[in-house]
Amino acid sequence: MRVQVAIIGSGPAGLLLGQLLYRAGIDAVVLEQRSQDYVLSRIRAGVLEQVAVDLLDEAGVGKRMHAEGLVHKGIELCFSGARHRIDLDLLTGGKRVTVYGQTELTRDLMDARAAAGLKTVYEASDVSVHDFDGARPRVRYLKDGAAFELECDFIAGCDGFHGVCRASVPPEALASYEREYPFGWLGVLSETPPVSHELIYSNHERGFALCSMRSLTRSRYYVQCSLDEQVDNWSDERFWDELRRRLDPQAAAELVTGPSIEKSIAPLRSFVAEPMRFGRLFLAGDAAHIVPPTGAKGLNLAATDVRTLAHALVDFYAGSSHGIDHYSARCLRRIWRAERFSWWFTGIMHRFPDSGEFGRKIQEAELDYLVHSQAASASLAENYVGLPFED
Ligand code: APR
Ligand code: PHB
Repeated sequence: MRVQVAIIGSGPAGLLLGQLLYRAGIDAVVLEQRSQDYVLSRIRAGVLEQVAVDLLDEAGVGKRMHAEGLVHKGIELCFSGARHRIDLDLLTGGKRVTVYGQTELTRDLMDARAAAGLKTVYEASDVSVHDFDGARPRVRYLKDGAAFELECDFIAGCDGFHGVCRASVPPEALASYEREYPFGWLGVLSETPPVSHELIYSNHERGFALCSMRSLTRSRYYVQCSLDEQVDNWSDERFWDELRRRLDPQAAAELVTGPSIEKSIAPLRSFVAEPMRFGRLFLAGDAAHIVPPTGAKGLNLAATDVRTLAHALVDFYAGSSHGIDHYSARCLRRIWRAERFSWWFTGIMHRFPDSGEFGRKIQEAELDYLVHSQAASASLAENYVGLPFED
């Protein structure tokens, strides 16, 4: 079988790329190792920058997001028992973020792909990529015990951090940069109204906490925890008590608790692989980079990667290799700016085991300066809503 683009992975990156290519008349097949239900079961943040919102509209899948997404004009930072609002709208001249769960975004993309009759192979096993250093790359996979080979012009590695594509690049051709954080996030999803209409990021002596949401009736909460914590040791009651202790008195009093419908612990890491192109193989999204979730940049970076890649492939088929030749450099500039912001925001909002008393006082001073300096608040705001996209 032959196709112009073989997309490995049906997460946000793979599905959005498939939709953008379809709208441009370029045929692509998506190969996904998991089932559709498994992909949809993943609980991931959905704080969309305007560039991601615009991209979903460009892909023709923005209708439900506009109907159900929550437009947020500010966030709150909580420390020393008080909340301080960062007015994103005022500080950025009218920019906002849209809160719309990644699960819903993935569902919209899957529905659009199915409605267009586009081929997605779920539960494709033993996916392998070949000859991407030449002009005739190939992808092999198993489906229901039968072996298949896909000839293509390009392979898009949208297969996430643990995918096969980056792992198939010769080690000497790749440079990677990584930082692992000495803590994780214990997250709970509950069918309860959010404690506040905006997100609350809290730095407390007991650790970081985050109050987020999926809708006006479904909330998402996190507390920083040590890496050796076990989810089974955290009853709902223990989680809610810990969350309350890390919030200001008003939020603690107004928190509506209820049964968790999902509870999990995730590690935090910063990671970038360079470059993102290897002949006819292109990496996009988590396959190429990971950010700690503090800045909510993961989904947004995946979106801008595939926007750049889709436009590059359209140019290629129109006769210009300029886009594919500059794909990696264009993406990496934006990626590293988001990596810096995510690392910085993680640094001032979490308690680090080795920071010591001096480090704690510096963090207090950093937060005090951040919320009382318009320049510092504006810097946070412009990064949080997303830096301007440079084509
Ligand atoms: N073969 C086929 N599919 C694979 C393989 C493989 N060898 N390895 C991984 N996959 C699939 C995974 O099952 C997953 O569905 O690739 C997909 C990768 O999706 P994500 O991990 O969601 O990565 P991406 O699409 O880049 O989206 C990044 O999702 O992980 C969050 O926080 C992240 O918000 C960010 C966004
Ligand atoms: C979430 O809602 O899961 C979420 C929101 C903002 C973040 C991280 C996670 O910074």
